[in-house]
Amino acid sequence: MRDLPVFPDLRAFLGWCDTRGDLATINDPVSLKHAMTAVHRQVLERAGPVLKFANPVDGEANGAPIPVIANLFGTSERVCAGLGMAPENLDDLGAFLASLRAPEPPEGAKDVLSRWPMLKAALATRPKVVKRAASQSECFEGADVDLGRIPVQTHWPGDAGPLITWPVVLTRHHGSDAGAVNHYNAGVYRAQVIGRDRLIMRWLEHRGGAAHMRSWHKAGEPMPVAIALGADPATLLSAALPLPETISELTFAGALAGQRPRVVAAKSVPMMVPANAEIIIEGWVHPGDVAPEGPFGDHTGYYNAVEDFPVMRVSAITHRKDPLYLSTFTGRPPDEPSVIGEVFNRLSLPVIKAQIPEIRDLWLPPAACSYRMAVISIDKSYPGQARRVMMGLWGMLPQFSYTKMIVVVDDDINPRNWDDIAWALATRMDPARDVMLLDRTPMDYLDFASPEAGLAGKIGIDATNKIGSETTREWGEVMQTAPADTAFAADLIARCLPGLSP
Ligand SMILES: Cc1cc2nc3c(=O)[nH]c(=O)nc-3n(C[C@H](O)[C@H](O)[C@H](O)COP(=O)(O)O)c2cc1C
Repeated sequence: MRDLPVFPDLRAFLGWCDTRGDLATINDPVSLKHAMTAVHRQVLERAGPVLKFANPVDGEANGAPIPVIANLFGTSERVCAGLGMAPENLDDLGAFLASLRAPEPPEGAKDVLSRWPMLKAALATRPKVVKRAASQSECFEGADVDLGRIPVQTHWPGDAGPLITWPVVLTRHHGSDAGAVNHYNAGVYRAQVIGRDRLIMRWLEHRGGAAHMRSWHKAGEPMPVAIALGADPATLLSAALPLPETISELTFAGALAGQRPRVVAAKSVPMMVPANAEIIIEGWVHPGDVAPEGPFGDHTGYYNAVEDFPVMRVSAITHRKDPLYLSTFTGRPPDEPSVIGEVFNRLSLPVIKAQIPEIRDLWLPPAACSYRMAVISIDKSYPGQARRVMMGLWGMLPQFSYTKMIVVVDDDINPRNWDDIAWALATRMDPARDVMLLDRTPMDYLDFASPEAGLAGKIGIDATNKIGSETTREWGEVMQTAPADTAFAADLIARCLPGLSP
């Protein structure tokens, strides 16, 4: 089922990257405060390798002993590799995910399901419980807990302090069985370090972690939480994927990784934790215990406002003998989440096509924060269809609630190519006729350009060819060179102008 070897842990994946020349070790001392982010940004912008900072320093104290890994998913090839896929097989995985959501598998998915019976079966298997785990080689509890020993970065000049950026946060519903790992939620929610044993958990209201917390606090009880740092790539990506509610991220990760996930009982909380992670943080979130979080630079390219979020009291930290700390930054795209987002958007295309079959392709430009703008190509057959598609996306698919600009183009236009988009806008769109404006629709509160928090306008631009009653004028005909002449020209140029690159 997998195209690549099994990566049971972060190290196995790093080893694989290394054999491909895709891992660079930096032995120079690099400050955790701002400088490491500056290096990471420039490497990411150049589609560079995974970085291992062997000598992180925090600006004051030299010699932090734990190396920092950054840029793990800095290219889409590595994101695909983390999923165990060659990039060309992504569409199959997308169709498989679509089939998990739909009672009746969408067109095309049946074939994929029959080719991937192992993956389906793997989703039904339980994680394997082990007695001894690498992630618990060393254990610090009570007064020995000190988050300051972990080389947590402070990313941007205006940031409030150190921020854990790649935590896989594990929670479960109140009343659930600690052993029922298939019902755990795993999400990536940034965590601000505010003391030796205190973190702020920034799970947004609609996230799985926040819903679980409400169930415990409604019963007047603290919620146990476990955080895995430096999990295996499949677990990291599954925790960031918007999976259907019914599928546990840990089980899905096991299915992707090609082996049952290994878990072990946590030391100080009633939870199971990944046996293969680099570091585990355990603790409790008590009802009413909140602290002001931020400001921190976010994926929009701006600092977030300070807001209260729940505090996690850390009861234990366990780790491998020689742990690695996995980190990233969030900022104006490109950042790692925007690279991951591009791959995830390709995975979600079959789900979207199942709802709106005339859609051929869809691009959420990473530069527009990966969700605020969408360009969609359709196979158009009747007047008004582009507007119907816009309304379908906004009305039926929750992931487009915050997409404030939609451009619809015909299927001869590549929606991932700005030159194509500009040509369609310039030649097939009339601003007075082809723009649809909506007022007072839902918007994420991070969008300070909207007049009121949570409410904003939307714009839909129909840049398709106008057909039937959409126009009374004779429409333009696209010019094209005949295929035979194109082939002749290519052949002649190759012979007579060999230095001319294609
Ligand atoms: C590096 C990174 C950082 C993230 N930070 C946050 C965050 O601070 N808060 C949040 O709610 N979601 C954050 N997310 C997005 C969630 O992890 C993601 O939407 C996930 O699917 C949520 O899982 P859930 O639906 O099970 O809660 C982040 C994602 C990544 C990749």
